[in-house]
Amino acid sequence: MAKKDYKQLLQYLDPGKLPRHIGIIMDGNGRWAKQRNRPHLFGHQAGAKALRQVVELGVELKLEHLTFYAFSTENWNRPAEEVNGLLRLLKERLKKQIPEMMEQNIYAQFIGTAVGLDPDYWKEVSRTVEVTHQNTGMVVNFAFNYGGRLEIIDGFKKLMQSSPESLETLSPENFGAYLYTAGQPDPDLIIRTSGEYRLSNFLLWQSAYAEIYVTDTLWPDFDKLELIKALLDYAGRQRRFGGR
Ligand code: FPP
Repeated sequence: MAKKDYKQLLQYLDPGKLPRHIGIIMDGNGRWAKQRNRPHLFGHQAGAKALRQVVELGVELKLEHLTFYAFSTENWNRPAEEVNGLLRLLKERLKKQIPEMMEQNIYAQFIGTAVGLDPDYWKEVSRTVEVTHQNTGMVVNFAFNYGGRLEIIDGFKKLMQSSPESLETLSPENFGAYLYTAGQPDPDLIIRTSGEYRLSNFLLWQSAYAEIYVTDTLWPDFDKLELIKALLDYAGRQRRFGGR
């Protein structure tokens, strides 16, 4: 099927069987660039275009929440040139995308930690997305300087600092209120590209009952058609949440 034919598959999607929240581990940018004898960053640039397509289809399908794993706390271990390039790319692409996000009524935010980031950089990118915070449509989370274990520790610290008495009533049902994703539903579906079967410290708490979809497609090649394939696969899953 030609790439442009994603609309043909749309008719098979049951709107009642769409996930409310999808988390996406965008993997394979480096391999995609290597296949083309280009630097790693070239893959990340192409990856940013794939992200845009997925957001576009998310809006079209009226998805509620999308979370993209854009930069992990472990990504600092990469060569400085790649890290700096990736941080610059994030800042520039976001700035560029804001008018479109406003049109699409998207609420964009970062989930992650400011620790380790240059404070001026953090201020600038935070301000960039803040303008979307009046919007009432799809929520797009950029997991940025994000680590799942750190998020759980940060959440626990927050609880101890704000209301230590809540420790008595702390439960799996109410701990989510202390996480970066407070107030959002847990992801129903986690998509990982490039054929790796790992969560890589992504939404560890929230993914407890998420369905996981892995495709061999490298992230820069992921497009609307690929997203629909993932959604059709998800629609066929039987979710039991530990029951029968
Ligand atoms: C993993 O691929 C991907 C990342 C570490 C970064 C993902 C970031 C983007 C796609 C840019 C996001 C842009 C915006 C606007 C948020 P990899 O480099 O590990 O690939 P490899 O495993 O093939 O080397």
